[in-house]
Amino acid sequence: MKAAVYYETGPPDVFRYEDVPDPECGPGSVLVHVEAISIEGGDTLNRAGGEMASKPHIVGYQCAGTIRQVGDGVADRHEGQRVVATMFWGSHAELVAVPAVLTWPVPDGADIVACACVPVAFGTADDCLFEFGHLAAGETVLIQAGAGGVGVAAIQLAKRAGATVIATASSVARLDPLKPLGLDHPVDYSREGWVDVVRNLTGGRGVDLAVDSVGGRVLAGSVACLVYRGRAITVGRAGRDPQPFDVSTLGMGNQSITGVFLGAEILNERTRAMIQHHVDDVAAGRLTVLVDRTFPLAEAAAAHAYIESRQAVGRVVLIP
Ligand SMILES: NC(=O)c1ccc[n+]([C@@H]2O[C@H](COP(=O)([O-])OP(=O)(O)OC[C@H]3O[C@@H](n4cnc5c(N)ncnc54)[C@H](OP(=O)(O)O)[C@@H]3O)[C@@H](O)[C@H]2O)c1
Repeated sequence: MKAAVYYETGPPDVFRYEDVPDPECGPGSVLVHVEAISIEGGDTLNRAGGEMASKPHIVGYQCAGTIRQVGDGVADRHEGQRVVATMFWGSHAELVAVPAVLTWPVPDGADIVACACVPVAFGTADDCLFEFGHLAAGETVLIQAGAGGVGVAAIQLAKRAGATVIATASSVARLDPLKPLGLDHPVDYSREGWVDVVRNLTGGRGVDLAVDSVGGRVLAGSVACLVYRGRAITVGRAGRDPQPFDVSTLGMGNQSITGVFLGAEILNERTRAMIQHHVDDVAAGRLTVLVDRTFPLAEAAAAHAYIESRQAVGRVVLIP
């Protein structure tokens, strides 16, 4: 098969488009012919640095396509079935073999590109807001990096739950497409004083919950935006800012901060059902996936560079 691989981590031009051996479909797994690859925030971070699980390495957490082979012991998937799948690595390829439990059926007639973008973004947003963030109707939530994949999902789920939604981005123009999806108040967090802007939007009270996928100085700002007894969720480090967080700032306001990792929850029944629900809602038009651009898989380097230029609103998708 063809795949976008790299031999060392680094900037987007480390990608090579090469022939590699087809993956083997072991017991409990399915082999998926990939039709759409959602580039996740973690994919660009993994390509940029850190440990490589293989060499050459095929990065990527998520894709959708059609099952071509079903491994021994798999009773609930069949050849020809369309699924969206998650994996620790390997999405940037024409074929991927994954445990069947990490696949979700794509309803008939649904857009495979939109469904390719659902599990990690919507699953993470849901866990941040509800399972760990305990968001309730009538509360105000701050969603950092609202134009990113997790942000677009979180804005919609928070609004649907009856919250007031404030979201940040590196320009308010990047948040315009999110207003019809439930965003109440866009804030430009590249400007000095954005914490005061957020607090002023709440009449000085502060937000009940902050969902932070950016980290570093932005995470400190998330906590500074909280109401007394407010909750912050840290779920990523998209800002690549190594600034450590000073936990002593939580004490005066009896505030809390919780880490969220979808990967530790994704195999349990609750999470699998929650993700299927979101796939079905996207398929039925009750939730929206914003796809900013698609690129051919052969142009993975250009697609990653485009994401890192911070122009994309929502997802960038590779098509093998
Ligand atoms: N813990 C988990 O289970 C989990 C699950 C999913 C994702 N994550 C993490 O959450 C983060 C966001 O994921 P995602 O899929 O939403 O990512 P994404 O779609 O690529 O969006 C990332 C956003 O981060 C913002 N950003 C801030 N500083 C940036 C920088 N220096 N370079 C690039 N972007 C920057 C960008 O918006 P602006 O330009 O508007 O600032 C961009 O929209 C990632 O760190 C990812 O690893 C964690």
